[in-house]
Amino acid sequence: MIRMFAKDKKRKILFVSTEVDPFAKVGGLGSVMHSLSKALNALGHDARVMIPRYLDIGNMENIHMEYEGLLVPTDDEEGTEIVCNVKKYTKNTEKGKPTTVYFLENMEYYEQRANVYGYADDPIRWALLCRGVLEFLKVSDWVPDVIICTDWQIGFLPNYLKTMYQEHPKLSKISTIFSIHNLGYQGTFNHKYIQESEYDDGHSPVPALNDPRLMHINGLRRGIMYSDIINTVSPTYSREIMEGEYGEGMDAILREKKSVVYGILNGIDYGMWNPLRDPMITQTFSVDALEKRMDNKVAIQQYFNIEENKDVFLVAIVSRLTTQKGFDLMMDGVLRSLLQELNMQLVVVGEGEEKYMKFFQELHDESPERVGAQLHFDHELPRKIFSGADAVLIPSLFEPSGLTQMEAMHYGTIPIVRKTGGLADTVIDYYPGNAKSTGFVFEKFDASSLLIAVVRAYENFQNKTIWRKLQKTAMRRDFSWEYSAREYDKLIRASITMHQNYAE
Ligand code: GLC
Repeated sequence: MIRMFAKDKKRKILFVSTEVDPFAKVGGLGSVMHSLSKALNALGHDARVMIPRYLDIGNMENIHMEYEGLLVPTDDEEGTEIVCNVKKYTKNTEKGKPTTVYFLENMEYYEQRANVYGYADDPIRWALLCRGVLEFLKVSDWVPDVIICTDWQIGFLPNYLKTMYQEHPKLSKISTIFSIHNLGYQGTFNHKYIQESEYDDGHSPVPALNDPRLMHINGLRRGIMYSDIINTVSPTYSREIMEGEYGEGMDAILREKKSVVYGILNGIDYGMWNPLRDPMITQTFSVDALEKRMDNKVAIQQYFNIEENKDVFLVAIVSRLTTQKGFDLMMDGVLRSLLQELNMQLVVVGEGEEKYMKFFQELHDESPERVGAQLHFDHELPRKIFSGADAVLIPSLFEPSGLTQMEAMHYGTIPIVRKTGGLADTVIDYYPGNAKSTGFVFEKFDASSLLIAVVRAYENFQNKTIWRKLQKTAMRRDFSWEYSAREYDKLIRASITMHQNYAE
């Protein structure tokens, strides 16, 4: 019998992640951890987040010792333990609800590391985090009803929980949701070229932290296998990953678990993204005063030191510079032709793979008056850019959700996107007479399809009535977290019910 909970019962929710804004943010994951936990708290839940304490987090205010000298087993034969601390950050948000973040402290694995990712011992760092969270919950008064585990790094957690902690009176009651923000990463190895002898089918126990076999454990597969529910960050991506093309080798196992795979679209934080009140932008504006955006466009041109020109088609790229984001489509001449043939400018903000950084740097060097490039992350610049740019280019190879297209639309910048994942769920292609259009969409992952989409956008940009209508429709779309948080609420309840029924 399926036992249902009273609808209004508030839940204790713990997100375990590698990033949470403002403490550690590399990409969209950090923003989502921050704003989704906040949105769940606004619904009355008690949602908290736990991440490692990296070097950059330093001595921030409102962080206090919660548990000193936590001994985390390494599972080696000698019974070695790693000594960690847990620190806790609490601060009242504008709505008066507490947002709590826990940090797992360890000098060697976290506090001496300036970056979130990219170390040879990353699997040890993440397995330690997963094990550390569970050891902490054993001694903590606050125990969540559900743990939401994000991406491969936290895939070890449901595995430990369902095996080593299965009999633990407190911990065995916790249900798990495995949240996939990116199927492309599964471990520090390249899952596409794994040797048969190193293939991880997910059934063996997680090796000891100092066992070299840990390096080949597929955290993503284990997260999928051992969690009660699996979710991804958009409905389209949740369907795509069950197919070979997007499945990254996980399609079969996801199809097997189809009845517990969900897709909930991310939202954006309207507290931060508000064109009426954003302190980061030169000129605030509303949907009814879009002409004010012109000051912001000029501000962008000044910032990047490109030609000041109000009529030019100003296109932005704000992105992690990785293969996922579709830059390979631009490298074989398309962007150069567009810049040469059209009255167009390009500004780029982001960092990532060397070849893309080099490409954008070269493009800038070739036409400094038309191309601006800032090749490092900047948390504030995206808001300035979307407050004045005309279009944003997001031709992703795959896109679990994507936040930039929503941020851009909310500020009146029109997205040009490939029809995949969350981009397909949020951008409605323009054709004459379609009052719902919010951008330009192309389907096939090839350079000519991208070219056609940019040219279509450029031509329609010349007609101010069409463009204004697109901007207004885009700005009026609701991308706030409210709807998605309610969907998560249902998912959380379902996972708790399922876990209880399973345990009985
Ligand atoms: C990852 C995905 C991106 C998504 C973000 C937050 O960075 O690549 O599509 O928006 O996670 O869920």
